[in-house]
Parts: sequence; structure tokens; C-alpha cells
Amino acid sequence: MKLLTCVLYCSTSLATVTAAPLPYQNPTFPLTTRVQDLLSRMSLEEKAGQLVQTNLTRLMPGNGYTRGPLDPVQLNAVLGQAHVGSVLSGGGFAPVPNTPAAWAEMTNALQRYALDSTPLRIPLLYGADGVHGHNNVLGATLFPHNIGLAASFDPALAQQVATSTGKALRATGVNWNFAPDADLGLDPRWGRFYETFGEDPQWVSALVAAQVRGFQASPLTGVAATVKHFIGYGQAADGRDRAPATVAESALNSLLVPPFRAAFQAGVASVMVNSGALNGQAVHASGDLLIGLLRRDLGFDGVTISDWDDVARLQTVHKAAASEEDAVRQAVMAGIDVMMVPTEAAAYSATVTQLVRSGKLPMARLDEAASRVLALKFRLGLFEHPFVDPAQAAAKVVDRELAYQAAGASMTLLKNAAVGGLPLLPLTVRTPRVLIVGPAASDPRAQLGGWSVDWQGVPPDTQVQAVTVLAGLKAQVPPGVTLTYQDGSSPADLQQAARGADVIVWVLGEKPGAEGQADAPTLALTDQELVRVQDLRRFGKPILTVLLAGRPLDLRTVLPASDALLMAYLPGSEGGRAVADAVWGNRNPSGRLPFRWPTRPGALPAVLTAAPDLPALFPFGAGLSYTQFAEQDLHINAAAHTARITIRNTGSSAGQHRVLAYDGSGPNRQLVAVGRVRLAAGESQTISLTWLNR
Ligand code: GLC
Repeated sequence: MKLLTCVLYCSTSLATVTAAPLPYQNPTFPLTTRVQDLLSRMSLEEKAGQLVQTNLTRLMPGNGYTRGPLDPVQLNAVLGQAHVGSVLSGGGFAPVPNTPAAWAEMTNALQRYALDSTPLRIPLLYGADGVHGHNNVLGATLFPHNIGLAASFDPALAQQVATSTGKALRATGVNWNFAPDADLGLDPRWGRFYETFGEDPQWVSALVAAQVRGFQASPLTGVAATVKHFIGYGQAADGRDRAPATVAESALNSLLVPPFRAAFQAGVASVMVNSGALNGQAVHASGDLLIGLLRRDLGFDGVTISDWDDVARLQTVHKAAASEEDAVRQAVMAGIDVMMVPTEAAAYSATVTQLVRSGKLPMARLDEAASRVLALKFRLGLFEHPFVDPAQAAAKVVDRELAYQAAGASMTLLKNAAVGGLPLLPLTVRTPRVLIVGPAASDPRAQLGGWSVDWQGVPPDTQVQAVTVLAGLKAQVPPGVTLTYQDGSSPADLQQAARGADVIVWVLGEKPGAEGQADAPTLALTDQELVRVQDLRRFGKPILTVLLAGRPLDLRTVLPASDALLMAYLPGSEGGRAVADAVWGNRNPSGRLPFRWPTRPGALPAVLTAAPDLPALFPFGAGLSYTQFAEQDLHINAAAHTARITIRNTGSSAGQHRVLAYDGSGPNRQLVAVGRVRLAAGESQTISLTWLNR
């Protein structure tokens, strides 16, 4: 017998007869054929596992939140036994060590486990938040956050940034990106205002679509994009994160829906759902919104994923479910295809199985959700190419020049008063002794903001590669100009330094943060900054204020004390170079505000209601230049979706000019087209504008 067995084994292995691939394993077969064939071979448990996503740290030793090596016991329990088909790294949940190669090795190990431990060898989706570069990875280039990218008024640039980010993510084995954010930035008190592209639905729509195209530029080297957070997120009356929102249907359809529709038209692969409640209904349990509006009315046909642990919150926060099992049933029946379950994914997979067995969840609904997930895995080429090359990863997460270009295009000059008969900026040898003040000038955390290494921002004990404002200014200081720096902690030293200065550059920064932790009900700068501005004013020297902030803070004290004000937003790891270019005049600022700047916190533009348009400190689209531009002969052909305009540079220096063209006038006018042109002093040019969302 032994000999026979050996002969049989040997003959087979010698002949190595390769079985013909099954239909689902054949990349030449149509997608639907592959999905249906694979689904038909899957057990109920295997299908259920496709509806659940676990956080990475569940697959490591410890309580499910501590980072460490992969744990074979957990791999077996979650990926092997429970067939969980998707993993994420929530903000800050990186492998140990947090290097690009370690990310690639970790995702490869997980894919290998999934392929070798499941009979049908189904690969994993791996999700993360690449919202301004591959921002969880130490050493990655961090781009400006969306609010600053929006100030560039350059959709092509936003798409390039997304393409770069998609490549960076995929190079480390992350194939599902939880971006772009399509929420409208209507309330600067909201902790996620900086993650939005601002307040204008047409402009947000254009950038969301551009970023979807960028992230998804290539199935094998890009990533699946996720438009989030559907719908009505960030619209709470008090500006608090995840607080219930009430939005009239007319405002929902005219203001909040367009950016999601633009994402669907751009082919976005997935949607992430709003954690909150809209008009009294928890969105995660709303079939009206997730099936009626999202699928039937808007025609979305991709994967719908919950937000972090939000199925459980149907029971614990929204009190809309009597039990976890009921929450799972409600969410899946309402249209959630994948449940993001940080530590209990295995249990949720078993619950789905149990619900189907007991007839509380139709097999047809399970098949529908599992099919959408499988289709996404096929479209990403994961069955043929589940692995990445760790040796390539480090190079792919760095893109400094594009980040520098994006930060430069976002710089928005809001005030530039005359000092000694000439505008204070750009600084020149006219003011040879420059004093730079403020901790934010030398601390990269202020310019990086939240979702940087960790979701609340770079941890205090972590060093990151970034060009700070101080370093940027020093690197390009003009001949004949001297710089000194005071972080402001010693009033005596500050006073001494101010005496010997011709001009003060005050760098103000916001504390980095994300979500509710970054809510700012009063929009106030910290007391420390406010006191310093009044102190600085007493020195009687001109002040340039550089603001590193993700929102329009309360400037009632700062603005009058500043002779010039540069809004730098959260400019990312090359931000210091871009600020220096603007300050020294190497680049003429061309950014425009993608939001209105309220005069004070209470005077927020109540866009969603019919309240009268409140006066703004600076209007949407505000932005100065070191030169002047005249706009004339604007021709808009709304029917043909074309517009053109003649621009003349009437000033004395070259510069780029951003053009915003509106249809109509007054508070209800609609942004319809944007353009940009670079002109030498005295030059004029007629340009065609890019019609938005055609
Ligand atoms: C967070 C955010 C969401 C993010 C997800 C995964 O709570 O709401 O935007 O994609 O969790 O990190």
C-alpha cells in the first residue's frame, strides 16, 4: 500500500497536473460570472465573514487595541474560523515598527494567512484613512489637509494628490482608502471642518470627484475610494461632532447630495455611512437613506461600509436596537454591506450566520452584500495580485515636491496693510531684522493637524519629517536679512528680542486633533496666543500673523493687531517651504478661501436654513496677491457649460490668479466655473474656465 501511495503521490507530483482554474479563479471571465461562481461555492459562514471588518490590533496579542506582532491564535479565530474578509488600520493602528516596509510585510502576512487558511483562498480588503497622504505611516509625506487643498481652486492638483496617495497606500498593501470626505464644511466649530473641502457644494463636488478619480486611477496600483460620510454628517445645529442633525429635504437635496452624486458619477467604489442621526433617524439603520436615497434615487452600486463600531451604537447610543443581534439585523437590512467592528468582528460574523439560520435575515440579502464585497476584491485584482513588494514601499510613500506645490497653491493672503508707504509683504531687506515668534513656528504638529501618524495628530514623543515654518524661513532667508526666534515662553526674552527687530512674524497654530476632540465651540485661539498678540502690539513693530489652522478662528483680537495675515491652513510636511515662499515673495500667494470667515462664533452662516446671509469677515473666495488683477469680459454660456474671461495683471509683479465664476448674484449665486492663469506684470490673457461637475 505504502508503495502504491508513493507511486500515486509521486506520479501526480511529478506530472504536477495543474487543475484547470475554477471560473472564479479565471481573470478572463466576466466579473459577474466570477462573483456568482465563487458565491455558489461559499458556505453560509464564509459569506457572513465578508460582511465584517476587523481592526488590525484585534489580530495582535492583548486587549484588541494594543499594537504588537500578529498573533497566530487571533489570526486563526478571526480570519480562519470566522472567515472575516476585511481588515482596517484605524487612525494610529500601525504595525510595529511603523515603517513602510513593515506595513507591506504585515499586509502580505495577512493576505498569505487568508489565502492559505480558507478553502476558497479569498483575499482580504485592507482599509485605512489616507486623507492627506499615507498619513498613518511614519516617514510618509503629508499633503495639506482638504480645507487647504480646496483653497488652491485647482481640481487637477487635487486629483494628482489623490493619485499619489493611492499609490502610497497600495504600495504598503492598503487597497481600500476611507476618503474623500464629501461632507460640507458649513460650521467651523465642527472638529472635522478641516477634513472637508469647504462650504460650496459645487466646489466640494468638483474636488470629491477629482479625488475619486485620483485614488482609483489604477485598479492594481491605486485603491478603492470611499466617499464619506453619507449623509448629513457635521450638520448638527451646535457644531458638535456626531450630534443629531435636522436638515430640510430641500437643503439635503440641493446642498448635501451633490458631492455624493459627483462621487458616484466618478465611479467611487464605496460609501461610508454617517455615525449620527439625521432628522431623528440613526443613519446606520435608515433604509430610507441607505436604500431609498443612496441606491434607488442616486444609483450607487458599490459597497456600503459602516463607520467605526457604529452598528453597536445603534443599541448603545441611538437606542434604536434592543440587542446587538437586532442592531446587526437592522444595519444589514437597512443597506450596510460591511460592518466596521474594531474588536468583535468574529462575533458579528457568527451573528450574521445565526440571523440567516433563524430566518431573521434573508439569504438573498446576505448574498447581495457578499457579492458586492467579492466584486470589489475582483476589481482590485486581489485574487491575482494579493501581495506587494516591501522593498518598494518606502519610496512610494514620499512625494515631497507635490506636497510643496500643493501647500504653495493653498497659501491665502487675507491682509497686507501698508507699512512705511508699502505693503508689509513680501518681507525684504526693507525690514532686515525679522523676529519669528510662537511655538507653532518650530513644532510640525500644528502644520500637520489631526490624522497624522495618530488620528489625534503626531504624538508629542514622536519625531516626524517635516519642514517647519522656522526651518522654511531660515532656508530661504534673503541676503541682508537676519532672523531670530522666540517661542514666546519668556516675556523678558521676547521683549528684548522685539526691541531689536524691524518686523515680527507671529506664527499661530491650533492644537492638532480629530473628530469630537477637535470641536471648537467658541472658535477661540488659546488664551496664550491672544495675550501674546496684545503684548506684541505694544512693541510697536509691524506684525505678520501666519495662521496654521483648519478653520476660520475668531480673529476679533488678532486681525486688528496684525498688519498682514497669511492663512496657511494645515499645510502638511512641506508647509514651511510654502509659507517661506509667500513671506519672502518667491511665490505670489494665489489661494482663495473655500469658506466664509464669520465675524464671530455666533454669526455662523446658517446655510442650511433660510436665515439671511450673515456678514462675513472675509467672503468665500477671498484672497489677495502681491500684484493686482483686473477681470473683464466674462462670458458665461450656461447652456453650453462654457465660460471665458480676460484677465490683466495691472500690478508690478508676476503672479497666478484664480478665477471664480458665478451664475447669478447675491447670497444664492452659484459657483459654476473656475480658472487660473499666470501673468507677468502688465500682461493680459483671455482664458477659458473649467466648468464644474460636467
Ligand atoms: C473614524 C471616522 C471615519 C474613519 C473611520 C476609520 O471614526 O469617522 O472617517 O474612516 O473611523 O478610521
